Amino acid sequence: MQSGMSANSKDAEYLATSSALDTLLLPRHRWYFIKEAFSPSLVDYAIKDTQCDKNDLIIDAFCGSGTVPLTAALHGCKALGFEVNPFLAFVSRTKLLQCKPYTIDKYLPEVINAATTGTPSPLATFSTFSEAGGAQKWLFSKDVLEAFEGGWKATVGLSTPIRDLLRLSLIGAAMDVCNAVKDGKCLRYRSDWQERSLGKQEFLDTFQKRVSEIKVDLEQCPMRNLDANILVTDSRNLRSKELNGRKFRLCVMSPPYLNSFDYTDIYRPELFLGKFVSSNKGLKELRLRTLRSHVQVDWEKPKQMDMGQLFSSSLADIEKHADSLWNDRIPSMIQAYFQDLKLVLGNLRELAQENANVWIVVSTSAYAGVEIPVDLIIADIGVQVGWLLRELKVTRYLRRVPGQQWETLYEKKNKQPHLRESVIIFGSKPQAKSTIIGVQG
Ligand SMILES: C[S@@+](CC[C@H](N)C(=O)[O-])C[C@H]1O[C@@H](n2cnc3c(N)ncnc32)[C@H](O)[C@@H]1O
Repeated sequence: MQSGMSANSKDAEYLATSSALDTLLLPRHRWYFIKEAFSPSLVDYAIKDTQCDKNDLIIDAFCGSGTVPLTAALHGCKALGFEVNPFLAFVSRTKLLQCKPYTIDKYLPEVINAATTGTPSPLATFSTFSEAGGAQKWLFSKDVLEAFEGGWKATVGLSTPIRDLLRLSLIGAAMDVCNAVKDGKCLRYRSDWQERSLGKQEFLDTFQKRVSEIKVDLEQCPMRNLDANILVTDSRNLRSKELNGRKFRLCVMSPPYLNSFDYTDIYRPELFLGKFVSSNKGLKELRLRTLRSHVQVDWEKPKQMDMGQLFSSSLADIEKHADSLWNDRIPSMIQAYFQDLKLVLGNLRELAQENANVWIVVSTSAYAGVEIPVDLIIADIGVQVGWLLRELKVTRYLRRVPGQQWETLYEKKNKQPHLRESVIIFGSKPQAKSTIIGVQG
């Protein structure tokens, strides 16, 4: 293994420039923006680097908004995405749909009329969804929820793809006029949410704009003869049947970072709007199926400790600072996170072709001023389950992450950027050497 090579390698530079913002301008990707997505150019790059062709199966075990399956499908490859959050799985699946744009026009007026008339929404009095719930702040005006519900009801009799394309536009439009925006780990109310008072008309306008974009993309970026699918799955349970007995050639994935970010929380409005969950109990059950990268739910205690020296010493370091942790379950979360990833990497090893590759995008984390070298630990764990480490490239050093622990670390390190994002590349076939690029300290 070589280490200490230049952080400015051409590849690392290229990858560092890519971000979720790229998806805002790209056909189909732009149908629903999630800021945790990575750039499609990273996937393009991995496909090129590994010389995948049309016969190859490309997968993503944490597919989020579907960047990997969509990019793979646009390359003409076979694609499978796995995602535990049913709303995000819906987004990914919908981005792969195709229909003749004019068929949307046939049903659109009915949906607009129904939204204009409105229907009572079951969410109006639920939690903070609207002013009718009695809270001091609310996510949507009751008007918007009723327009949404009217539009949604009008899609009930329709079949896929039209139904899902229209539903994705309805959810997107509701979020466009939401009083809160996604900010780090939570939903933050816009400072001017009361003055803005976005209502039914704004909702209808943005809905139609979204539908128009979809129609343009269906025309200009058609997808035909696809061999691509998205499954709502907990990737810790991935088995051969999920791949229909096939083996994958390339897996590109970005598991949740070890930063206590709870995707079920941040996408809670969409989960309820789209009727993917209908109660807090349902939300909790979903949360229990997610990778243990957060402390929001009381999951089973991890048991595994054999995850390498680096893991053990990092955990011991964190435990020494137990008094400064903002939650006493953090050490357990760290252990559970790596245990889960070991399981996923082990499953993937079983499902890989002879010359397969796995590209993983991750970030390091810090708690109580102690850095967890997540990338290096994952590299270690991957090797333990039979992968060969090809490369670990740091793509960028992060200047700020939300949370007190970063501020502390930031101060301690004389304001030097410290946390980093990396791409770890595993292969199943031996090759000359492994490289680690850009890890400092
Ligand atoms: C960093 S995001 C991936 C974003 C994705 N690369 C994209 O471009 O949209 C991580 C995803 O992992 C999903 N996830 C969390 N736990 C999971 C599990 N046990 N199985 C499958 N997916 C899971 C989250 O819901 C989230 O969508």
